[in-house]
Amino acid sequence: MTNANDTSVASPTDTPLISTPPEMRSGAAWIVSEGQDVLDQFLDALTEGQFLALPYIFEFWALAHQLPPEGDWRTWMIMGGRGAGKTRAGAEWVRAQVEGARPLDVGRCKRLALVGETIDQVHEVMIFGESGIVACSPPDRRPEWQATRKRLIWPNGAIAQAFSAHDPEGLRGPQFDGAWVDELAKWKKARETWDMLQFGLRLGDDPRVCVTTTPRNVGALKDILAASSTVVTSAPTEANAAYLAEGFLEEVRARYAGTRLGRQELDGVLVDAAEDALWTPAMLEAGRVEAAPDLDRIVVAVDPPVTGHAGSDECGIVVVGAVTRGPVQDWRAYVLADASVRAASPASWASAAIRAMEQWGGRMAGGRGQPGW
Ligand SMILES: Nc1ncnc2c1ncn2[C@@H]1O[C@H](COP(=O)(O)OP(=O)(O)OP(=O)(O)O)[C@@H](O)[C@H]1O
Ligand SMILES: [Mg+2]
Repeated sequence: MTNANDTSVASPTDTPLISTPPEMRSGAAWIVSEGQDVLDQFLDALTEGQFLALPYIFEFWALAHQLPPEGDWRTWMIMGGRGAGKTRAGAEWVRAQVEGARPLDVGRCKRLALVGETIDQVHEVMIFGESGIVACSPPDRRPEWQATRKRLIWPNGAIAQAFSAHDPEGLRGPQFDGAWVDELAKWKKARETWDMLQFGLRLGDDPRVCVTTTPRNVGALKDILAASSTVVTSAPTEANAAYLAEGFLEEVRARYAGTRLGRQELDGVLVDAAEDALWTPAMLEAGRVEAAPDLDRIVVAVDPPVTGHAGSDECGIVVVGAVTRGPVQDWRAYVLADASVRAASPASWASAAIRAMEQWGGRMAGGRGQPGW
């Protein structure tokens, strides 16, 4: 990572390219806000070397959400809308970990893991993509891709190995002092892959991970966000408007404004399932009673999963009692128990439903549209 005590912006001829003093952070935004005169003065004051180095000093160009927070974190999660600059931020973070002051100097990391949804994604997006590591690297520090070993090697000897989230077992064995993972919320085996990666992050004094992702309401992402060692920066697509094709934002905003998809994909906000639910937690709380009245009828409702293995949906089993006296509009129903079971075979969810029926003395009703009901 950039050394905050280093106060020189050095040129490629007289050594480092990437050291950035703190006041240079987000310098581009500052210059734009100050106007043309300040821009001219700034550019005139640069030596030729500094001028050539400028495109590669990411801290100068970075948007606020693209810079790692200070402090003692283990995971930095960059959550953002589509095109918000997540992948670029991840690639630049890898550079900052690997590169030393001069091209052959070692940086703070020597063994990294790059994990994407598939190996192709790692190769096409994280390494060779428009915002990937190779495109971001200055020529004298640009790493080489070794296709046979699926790894990048930098001139200073640092190595980053590519891994697919489809194959968590591939992460068993190697050890790392840092990792960048892209679009974790899309991974099918997110939890397994994340866990495997954690076991391998055991080199150096302070192994860290940068996660760049569009948010989705998935357990693995929410667990990472809930960890006390995680820090988060986030931004909507608009934050990176200057670098997105003209018309793109108006088009997608017009189409997705106010929708759940828009909140997730453009605002970069994690939309909780509860926000979309027919019954919100607040509505359920408001309907709570101390005890159910005399009931005319009790039903055990079963909504079985189509499959019966560890990854299957939960089998919903709800015991509901109803008061069905008087006009229909006065009828009331009360949820008496939730006996749902997770990852159950048909035999085990069926016996859980029968147990509920015996316990509450109800009749059984099947979920609509399920095979066999
Ligand atoms: N600070 C920056 N300065 C200049 N260009 C940037 C900056 N941040 C991002 N970009 C450019 O903006 C474009 C979109 O960035 P990027 O690919 O990182 O977005 P993303 O959030 O990963 O998008 P997606 O949601 O499609 O994965 C790229 O061309 C990238 O190089
Ligand atoms: Mg991306």
